[in-house]
Amino acid sequence: MNKFFNDVWEGLNATPKRLSSKYFYDEAGDKLFQEIMQTPEYYLTNCELEIFSEKTDEISELMLSHSTSFDLVELGAGDAMKSTFLLKNLQDRKADFVYYPIDISAHVIENLSDKLPDEIPGIRINGMNGEYFDMLKQIKKISSRKKVVLFLGSSIGNIPFEHTGDFLNELHQQLNPGDLLLTGFDLKKDPRLILAAYNDASGATKRFNLNLLQRINRELDADFNLAGFEHYPVYDEASGACKSYLKSLSKQRVRIGEVGWVHFAKGEMIFMEISQKYSLQQTDELARANAFKPVKHIFDNKEWFLDTIWQVVT
Ligand code: AVJ
Repeated sequence: MNKFFNDVWEGLNATPKRLSSKYFYDEAGDKLFQEIMQTPEYYLTNCELEIFSEKTDEISELMLSHSTSFDLVELGAGDAMKSTFLLKNLQDRKADFVYYPIDISAHVIENLSDKLPDEIPGIRINGMNGEYFDMLKQIKKISSRKKVVLFLGSSIGNIPFEHTGDFLNELHQQLNPGDLLLTGFDLKKDPRLILAAYNDASGATKRFNLNLLQRINRELDADFNLAGFEHYPVYDEASGACKSYLKSLSKQRVRIGEVGWVHFAKGEMIFMEISQKYSLQQTDELARANAFKPVKHIFDNKEWFLDTIWQVVT
C-alpha cells in the first residue's frame, strides 16, 4: 500500500479528521499555488520578493563572510523566483557555490535544471527530487562543503508549532557548526490581513484546498463531491495559528477506494493546513531553543515578513 493512501485513510479516520498539506502540490496544486501568489490578498510572496530583490547584496555578503565556498541547498525550491535574485548576485561575484534545489515535485526539478543555466550562465546546479531530509543526506554524501540552507516562503509555518522543534532538530543533525540557515517567517500583524490572505476573493485558496479532494478522487479512486465542502479558514491571534479546514455542508459519506467509507456529520471539518504566524521574539527563541544563533534579521519595508539568518552552534 502506498504512503499517500495510508496517510489519507488514517487522517480521515482520525478525530478530528485531517489531511496533510504536503499533498497539496500535485501538478494542479502547483498551478493553484502560483495563482494564490498572484492574488492581491496574498502579501507573503511580494514581501519576500522585495527582500530578495532589494537586499540581495546584504544577504550575499553575509553568506560569503562566513564561507567563500559552500553548497546552497534550497528546501522546497518551487520556481526559485526569489532565490534566483540571490543566485545571480552570487554568480556575479564569482562565488564558489553549487546550488542544490530540493523539491518533492519531479516536474519542478526538471524545470529548474532546464531553465536556470540559461538565466544564470555558469551556474552549477544539482537538482534533487525527493523529501527534504532524504535529499539532504544524499547531498552530504556528494559534498562535505559548508552548507547554506534556504527555507523560504514561510513554509516553516506549515509545521504545527509544537513540532517545529523536531523539524529544526532533524535539520540541525544534518548540518555542522558554522553552517547557515535562512528561513522565512510570516510575522503577526492585523488579523484581518492574515485571514484575507487565506480567503482570497477570487477563490484560488478555496480551489487549492479542494484540489486535494480531487487528487484523492483521482489517485485513490475516491468519490468526494467537491461541492459538498466549504473552504473554512480561521486565524487565532493569540496563538498565531492560521488554520484552514474543509467543512462538510451536509451529512454525507465518501467512498475511498475499495476499503470503505468515511462518514461526515453536517458541519464536520477536515483540518487541512496550518500557516503559523510568529513574533520576531518567538523566532529568536525558536533558534536558541534548537542550537541555532540568529545572526541577521531582514525585513520587507512594511515589516510584515522576516527572512532571518541563523548559524548552527555546537
Ligand atoms: C507555501 C506554506 C508558504 O502557508 O502561506 C498559501 C501555502 N496555503 N495559501 C502558506 C498556502 C494557502 C503557503 N506556504
